[in-house]
Amino acid sequence: MKDAVQTKTILRSLAGETLPTPPIWMMRQAGRYLPEYKATRAQAGDFLSLCYNPELAAEVTLQPIRRYGFDAAILFADILLVPQALGADLWFVTGEGPRLSTITSQTDFDVLKPVDAIHDTLNPIYETVRILRRELPAETTLIGFAGAPWTVATYMIAGQGTPDQGPAHALRMGNTPLFEALLARITAATIEYLSMQIEAGAEVVKIFDSWAGSLKGEAFQKYAVAPCAEITAALKAKYPHIPVIGFPREAGDGYIGFHAATGVDCVALDNSVSPDWAAANVQKDGCVQGNLASRHMVTGGQDLVDETRAIVKAFSNGPHIFNLGHGITPDADPENVTLMIETVRGG
Ligand code: CP3
Repeated sequence: MKDAVQTKTILRSLAGETLPTPPIWMMRQAGRYLPEYKATRAQAGDFLSLCYNPELAAEVTLQPIRRYGFDAAILFADILLVPQALGADLWFVTGEGPRLSTITSQTDFDVLKPVDAIHDTLNPIYETVRILRRELPAETTLIGFAGAPWTVATYMIAGQGTPDQGPAHALRMGNTPLFEALLARITAATIEYLSMQIEAGAEVVKIFDSWAGSLKGEAFQKYAVAPCAEITAALKAKYPHIPVIGFPREAGDGYIGFHAATGVDCVALDNSVSPDWAAANVQKDGCVQGNLASRHMVTGGQDLVDETRAIVKAFSNGPHIFNLGHGITPDADPENVTLMIETVRGG
């Protein structure tokens, strides 16, 4: 067991080792920019049917590993499966994104299921993890994930993605006890969900706080830092050897001290922070992940090569996992992903 762990480059970086070549994976690496993903998604019927079909979800997770040989695979699922497991209605509108039943009153909240009911819905996801542990190459690390409570709450409150998370901020300020009760329910469900992913074979977990950047000052501490710290502490108490990656996207100065404040092993960076700044201010506290702008996967060329090299160089004096600053987009060219990987691995 120990030997197997030591050969996996991502686990070495997460343990704090500085490697000559950073390991690499990519957010949304199983996605619509890949023709083989679109084919399997069509076979499943729709996106949610794909998430809940363990054989096909494992298949799309493996596709980018076969094509590119990434150092990690990320479980194919979605952060919005937790609200669905708590009883929210969830559907996806083609070309627009997710829609959910909204939670804006005590009555809406009272309809939600208790935390221990989530597994009735989420069991297929744990089966996907078990399949992946059997089928992944020995050197590939399996990453599980969940949304951070704030980000998940923004979708549950608004019923959809929002540019400024206005409805969630309105509830946070207008009915703080209800907002905090919702956050507590999501936090407890997330601990359960990630624990089951780990029991099924996830070797690392990542907490996606995509909308952390809209929380400022004390609100950032209370609703981004504290829930991430609570989830991390609960997981570490049960699974001390499982590394946790935190992603407080667009946190800006909030990235400073995030390792220590939350207990995560790695802080994932979006591309709004410069690599040199992040090396000096964030990587000094531990492993970082990131942070090439996703648009390079669309535009390619010398800019991609130059920017990739600059990121590798800036983070070369400490533990680093190469990644994008956010998910790859459907209009990306799969050839540009090859160019990025060759640049990271070949110089
Ligand atoms: O990264 C991976 O390859 C693993 C799978 C994964 C998905 N979503 C699959 C997905 C992960 C880790 C997520 C996380 C997720 N989901 C986040 C946090 C990260 C981020 O992007 O900020 C959020 C906010 C969501 C919610 C969500 N899911 C939205 C807003 C959308 C619609 C936008 C879009 O890209 O269409 C989704 C759908 C979704 N989740 C797709 C995939 C591959 C596209 C669905 C499709 O095939 O049509």
